Amino acid sequence: MAFSTAQRGVARLLLYAVGVITIISFVFWSPIPFAPQTTFQGSAGASDQLHLIANGTLGVQKIFAISIPSRLDKRDNIVLGSSLSDFHVEFIDGITPDEINPKTYPYNWNYDHRPVEYAARRAHVNGMQQIVNERLGSAIIMEDDADWDVAIKSQLQSFAIAVRALQGTENAASESPYGHDWDILWLGHCGLECKSDLPSFLTPNDPTILPPHHFLPYWRDPPPLNRPDDSRLTCAISDGVCSIVYAVSFRGAQRILAALSVNPSGIADKIDIGAQFDVSLGRLCGSGYLRCFAPYPSLTGGYRPAAPATKGSDINGLDGDPEKPFDGPIEGPFSNGVMYSTMLNINRILGEEETVLANWDDAPVPEIKPGSIPVIGGSLQAPIAAA
Ligand SMILES: *[C@@H]1O[C@H](CO)[C@@H](O)[C@H](O)[C@H]1NC(C)=O
Repeated sequence: MAFSTAQRGVARLLLYAVGVITIISFVFWSPIPFAPQTTFQGSAGASDQLHLIANGTLGVQKIFAISIPSRLDKRDNIVLGSSLSDFHVEFIDGITPDEINPKTYPYNWNYDHRPVEYAARRAHVNGMQQIVNERLGSAIIMEDDADWDVAIKSQLQSFAIAVRALQGTENAASESPYGHDWDILWLGHCGLECKSDLPSFLTPNDPTILPPHHFLPYWRDPPPLNRPDDSRLTCAISDGVCSIVYAVSFRGAQRILAALSVNPSGIADKIDIGAQFDVSLGRLCGSGYLRCFAPYPSLTGGYRPAAPATKGSDINGLDGDPEKPFDGPIEGPFSNGVMYSTMLNINRILGEEETVLANWDDAPVPEIKPGSIPVIGGSLQAPIAAA
């Protein structure tokens, strides 16, 4: 997205106005800021754009999955799953440590980290290189063990209502259906911190939110904001962990490429610590170098097919005998982080059953018609710092 400086200036002004109004309304009128008149339903100008999110690339220009070419089994998962959710994925080749040319290490790489962690970071940076080279306005990048809800298209539209409101452009047309002033939409994560001086957004009555006892351990405390169990929070973030699924704008990809590889002016000394990709990305968000938003809880999750416990992420090798990698008791399949897993419902979807099943028997709605999961609006919340 090529946003003009003037557009960005206007957006910032609007955002400041939202902040000021938030604080004023909080202080003077009511303990519940943003009463019903500031509820966002995604109507007016945005509605002609929200439906673009239901297109074959989820409202961005391309979707990439990072996947080691030899892990054809994982490519099968992603290709089949995305076909059932009706979006299209291209692959970015994941890298194994033996393929690394040591000269590609940035000067500030922290060699305490393992080569496999650098290889993973390098694959994400290759994604940025491709986005910039192809001049993509925005793209989604996922790791190849991602899982997502069967309602991903409705969820992303609800999320877009939230991020557009946080950018202060809920009704204006913009080049992206997700708004005009963002670098990263951190859709799938394992922990985040909200910026405490900016408003957040609450989306209520969402049947796809896991009860907290089914969350995997997050690596950060929950945002210190009141969130009913059936509501999703969206906020501008100052940190994030695990780069499972994220959207990046063209501007964001250029900036990440600058900070994590090209590094023309020592940016990396200040805001990247030569760390794993997700850790560096979190710092780029926290420093204000990138403008990042995320949902809490995470929108997407992870999938592990039935396999011996030793076969798993490519970050970890096979623990057992490499000649017999399928030795040992079979575990799974597992899905975490989503309520109505696409991967676990594959047979139901292929069997043209009307409903899908929740991952857990104690889900508030254990069986649901995917088409009944709505696009949901919500309301802005006062910044944490004002509360
Ligand atoms: C989906 O919508 C986005 C945003 O308008 C657009 O950039 C992209 O090209 C569309 N994808 C497809 C497959 O039509």
